[in-house]
Amino acid sequence: MRRIYPSQDGEQPYIGPPGPLAEPVVAGAPGTAELIEGLAACSACPDGLWVRANMVTSLDVAIAVDGRSGGLSGAADRLLFHVLRSLADVVLVGAGTARAERYGLAKPASTWPQLRQGRQATPPIAVVTRGISLDLHSQLIRGDDTLPRSIVLTTSQAPADRVTAAAKTADVIVAGDDEVSAKAAIDSLAELGHRRILVEGGPILLGQLISANLLDELCVTISPLLVGGHGPRMTVQHGPAAVTELRLATLIEDDGFLLCRYVRSTPPTRLQAP
Ligand SMILES: NC(=O)c1ccc[n+]([C@@H]2O[C@H](COP(=O)([O-])OP(=O)(O)OC[C@H]3O[C@@H](n4cnc5c(N)ncnc54)[C@H](OP(=O)(O)O)[C@@H]3O)[C@@H](O)[C@H]2O)c1
Repeated sequence: MRRIYPSQDGEQPYIGPPGPLAEPVVAGAPGTAELIEGLAACSACPDGLWVRANMVTSLDVAIAVDGRSGGLSGAADRLLFHVLRSLADVVLVGAGTARAERYGLAKPASTWPQLRQGRQATPPIAVVTRGISLDLHSQLIRGDDTLPRSIVLTTSQAPADRVTAAAKTADVIVAGDDEVSAKAAIDSLAELGHRRILVEGGPILLGQLISANLLDELCVTISPLLVGGHGPRMTVQHGPAAVTELRLATLIEDDGFLLCRYVRSTPPTRLQAP
């Protein structure tokens, strides 16, 4: 795994051992700590509320193969996924992705403790859903006594019986009437003390965050694959087109996969000095 941008004049360009990443990346194995720290350093974000999304796409911009993203992923992307989760205070996801990807809670075994000092072992998962049409018996909602409860961001239209059932094991927050407002969702998470918000998709939720000008960073892994077909693109437009200018912050290459990290060109209003 090597860092292409910013270039490191005269320095070793590899993050971890030279050459493509070998799986599994095992905690405690020689070089693992340096690899994780190197990748985390490339992913550092400013203090204050920061909304980062992480997505994987094929060269022809497919975001799923047979309805799931796993077929696009590679070793470096999988490691980045876990490093970004380890850096996050909370993971935010649309219910469609939670259903398609069969989300459970974030796993302590794939979260790096050195990146979570002073915080719980794993970040909670926050899921956005209009009517809580989620499997209430799934680990995501049922929870696990040892891990943070999931957060369900829903609407006042959600059926009362589903709200009551979900609220037994998850934290339910009403953040809109017809739909969850992207701003209310982010504000609610911030009020709970979650500053580093990692959005794992999908395209509907991401489109809303972009429309509301709430996205600060987009990490995109470009996978060396062509998928064809006519699947969805990375975002679904919500309201009028909204253009956010980004700049390349980091580019890493591993085994033909490009790990791109783009951040807003100008800081969001909330980070600017008064
Ligand atoms: N390549 C990648 O990196 C990547 C990442 C993530 C997902 N994906 C793929 O994307 C697909 C799933 O995406 P998706 O189109 O279903 O989009 P999504 O954004 O994951 O989910 C859409 C659903 O989330 C809920 N939702 C989103 N915004 C809402 C709002 N403002 N208010 C209330 N509810 C809201 C609704 O669920 P309810 O129906 O429950 O109301 C809606 O149907 C899967 O194929 C997945 O594999 C790919």
